[in-house]
Amino acid sequence: MRMGTFSPENSGRSVHVNRLEIQTERLLLRPPTLNDVAAIHAFCDSPEMAWCMVGIPAPYPIEYAEKWVRDCAIGLDEETKYAFVICLAESGEVIGDTMLKRDQRDNRAELGYAMGKQYRGNGYAFEATSALVRFGFESMLVNKIFAGCWTTNTASVKLLEKLGFTREGVLRKHDLKWGQYHDDARYGLLRSEWMNH
Ligand SMILES: CC(C)(COP(=O)(O)OP(=O)(O)OC[C@H]1O[C@@H](n2cnc3c(N)ncnc32)[C@H](O)[C@@H]1OP(=O)(O)O)[C@@H](O)C(=O)NCCC(=O)NCCS
Repeated sequence: MRMGTFSPENSGRSVHVNRLEIQTERLLLRPPTLNDVAAIHAFCDSPEMAWCMVGIPAPYPIEYAEKWVRDCAIGLDEETKYAFVICLAESGEVIGDTMLKRDQRDNRAELGYAMGKQYRGNGYAFEATSALVRFGFESMLVNKIFAGCWTTNTASVKLLEKLGFTREGVLRKHDLKWGQYHDDARYGLLRSEWMNH
């Protein structure tokens, strides 16, 4: 497995990668284990999470959380999916997750993220995803990071724009959830853009 080595230049806030743990000022990102299933279930099992996530139903069965953890372990082994639970550095409490799914052929990765509803609005998602984007460009060495987000998902749109992503287009009425069609905005950030930011 390739380990990340981050150089301090270009970094803004300091980020340390060690055995696939990413430390930021307030957070620790680490691969999920089966011990995290209950915590993952707790933050995913809410309509506030499910409404905007294609793969998350409400209610969210605990078996889904367990399957996700197992899939993450396989993805990490195969170096196709780098998924992390986001923990508060001080308490170790699991408050969300974030991941990069690698597309080897095109040397790009898809960014995903979710934050438990009681932890939102504190800058945690920005802190975690900034570090993961850095990991993608510096350790995975991808050329592009992309993300999809419904145009009605204001928080996610804001987060991607704050991360420096460009809206590249909108797939109209592309996804169907709970009887409603959603416009899916496609966002991308190129390595060259990130290097010069
Ligand atoms: C998207 C999400 C991860 C943001 O988490 P968060 O920890 O609240 O985000 P942050 O606190 O780091 O905020 C990042 C930026 O988004 C803004 N923001 C966050 N929630 C917002 C909201 N509801 N409305 C408008 N802006 C919002 C913040 O103000 C901040 O911008 P600022 O610094 O300029 O003020 C969280 O809302 C979430 O988990 N949503 C459900 C899952 C989801 O949408 N996943 C992505 C699917 S595409």
